[in-house]
Amino acid sequence: MKRIVGLTVLFFLSTIGYGQKGNFAIIPEPVQLTAHNGVFRLSAATVIQTDNSELEKLGRQFAKWIAPATGWNLPVGKSAAKAPGVIVLKLSKAVKGLQHAEGYRLSVNPQKIVLEATTEAGIFYGLQTLRQLLPAPIEGIKKTDTDWEIPAVSITDYPRFGWRGLMLDVSRHFFPKEFVKEYIDQMARYKFNVLHWHLTDDQGWRIEIKAYPKLTEVGAWRVYRSGRWWTHEPPKKEEPASYGGFYTQEEIKEIVAYAKERHIDILPEIDVPGHSLAAIAAYPYLSATGYLTYVNPGSKFYNIEDNTLNPADERVYNFLDTVFAEVAALFPFDYIHVGGDECTKLFWSRSASVQSFMKEKGIKTEDELQSYFIKRMEKLLATKGKKLVGWDEILEGGLAEEATVMSWRGMAGGIDAAKMGRNVIMTPAEFAYLDLYQGDPVLEPDTYSMLTLKSSYNWNPVPDNVDDKLILGGQGNLWTESVPTGRHAEYMTWPRSFALAEVFWTPIHKMSWNHFQRKLPQHFQRFDHAGINYSRAAYDVRVTAKRGGDGRTLLAKLNVDIDGLDVYYTTDNTNPDLFSQKYTEEYIVIPPGIYHLRAQTYRNGAPVGQLLIIGRDEIEKRAPRKKD
Ligand code: ACM
Repeated sequence: MKRIVGLTVLFFLSTIGYGQKGNFAIIPEPVQLTAHNGVFRLSAATVIQTDNSELEKLGRQFAKWIAPATGWNLPVGKSAAKAPGVIVLKLSKAVKGLQHAEGYRLSVNPQKIVLEATTEAGIFYGLQTLRQLLPAPIEGIKKTDTDWEIPAVSITDYPRFGWRGLMLDVSRHFFPKEFVKEYIDQMARYKFNVLHWHLTDDQGWRIEIKAYPKLTEVGAWRVYRSGRWWTHEPPKKEEPASYGGFYTQEEIKEIVAYAKERHIDILPEIDVPGHSLAAIAAYPYLSATGYLTYVNPGSKFYNIEDNTLNPADERVYNFLDTVFAEVAALFPFDYIHVGGDECTKLFWSRSASVQSFMKEKGIKTEDELQSYFIKRMEKLLATKGKKLVGWDEILEGGLAEEATVMSWRGMAGGIDAAKMGRNVIMTPAEFAYLDLYQGDPVLEPDTYSMLTLKSSYNWNPVPDNVDDKLILGGQGNLWTESVPTGRHAEYMTWPRSFALAEVFWTPIHKMSWNHFQRKLPQHFQRFDHAGINYSRAAYDVRVTAKRGGDGRTLLAKLNVDIDGLDVYYTTDNTNPDLFSQKYTEEYIVIPPGIYHLRAQTYRNGAPVGQLLIIGRDEIEKRAPRKKD
């Protein structure tokens, strides 16, 4: 997994400056930062001092993060009066200027570092900032000889939102326990505090439920397929289901505890009543019309096979009562996510037993039936001491009384829910879906739609005319249909989740795309040292197209979101260089003929991004001709 610092990044650093304000490149940007003269020099003699046993644990975590690169094992303890440099961790009843329990104050001068907060979470976030104040090689797994200097600074910091999440879908592809822990570590560096764990879906059930062993014996496994998701062949007769996996309850407890140590709560999702093919494969009686006994391997099935639970069958509610009892016992977080998204109503409308159930209960529409189902889930969760979160479809047919709505089909569902006085978590696809393309599709691994780094950054989760207290926060969601490996999960997550970290933490008046993009190279360098993957797509050219005034002439725009890059291009099937055409006008005319447009970004005369090669036919598709 780990790899050595990449040449590309060294190149980035030599060509792009650090953050605007001196060398500070903290993500998420703190609320208030004042630079002073001088540096604190970390040494083998530095001591982490605290008189609080919980903070001692956090001090030890910090010492552990920096041990591989420094080669030192900094002592953590109560008294260190004579130490040449001391890092003091202090829990106080009140800290001046902090407006949030997760806030901290960090003061660095050449003799001493003082980190103060009212909660352990605040200290934890302050330590993440301190880590980012050290030079990037601090993230390395090998000892590096460098001056471990921390610039003198005063920082007062606290989050904008209390819910700062990332969602990881482990159903479409399975990610082992070790990867989930690494993902949690990565989140913690950027002050995320909720991991939404999408544990069940049509393509795999990933959580051991002791009362229903077939959920994982059958539901966690599918036939292996490669190639484009949704085009996969269904299983052949007797074909072994060899791809998959699940987390045992012991592993789940281990991951929950691991996350807790990093101040991350885990929101488990059991996606019902739709998205349930894996459960139905294990226990076919759960659906009204289903007969499939295999887990979907990524083949087409929506509205063809019944992947919905039967809301008219008491056995389904008994099943869910037991499942949620086991889930509730494993996850200490106050909330459980019950899904509720994309539930086709086709099979309910075709089922005589479902229809007669609706008649008997006076339920007029299938939407109302889903609402009936979700309301029962809410009651059922309440008996386990849990609150319900659901995707915004739970608004259809009537929202459950206390439900928290996770708005994904844009912000509209969230706005509607907030207008009803309900809590909302904003995760709109157009700003927060990490499975979408982040650069030109001709350069990026296959997926769909588009979400650039800049779009993620320029998002405000609080819409106009909505009570901002009802917006608990937001989340980036990583669906994994086209994410088969942990390395690729990282690639899709970062750097868009650097942007989201700032959206969820930094006050809006401190948000600056200009400043953020200058901080990026240092974080790329940190990830290179740490062996974490990420995308540099923001440095590449992305082509959009339109027709000229005649409705025919093909015009292309060569978009680059990072400032200060030059683009050189050709339309003669040669690779561009500094002597090629420089892109200066917003749109260039794409002349007729069969060829590729080639374009690349440069800075100070040296290439920066990937060479983009796009066929004229592909540009045509992006600008349909006006009908005559
Ligand atoms: C979703 O993307 N189906 C919530």
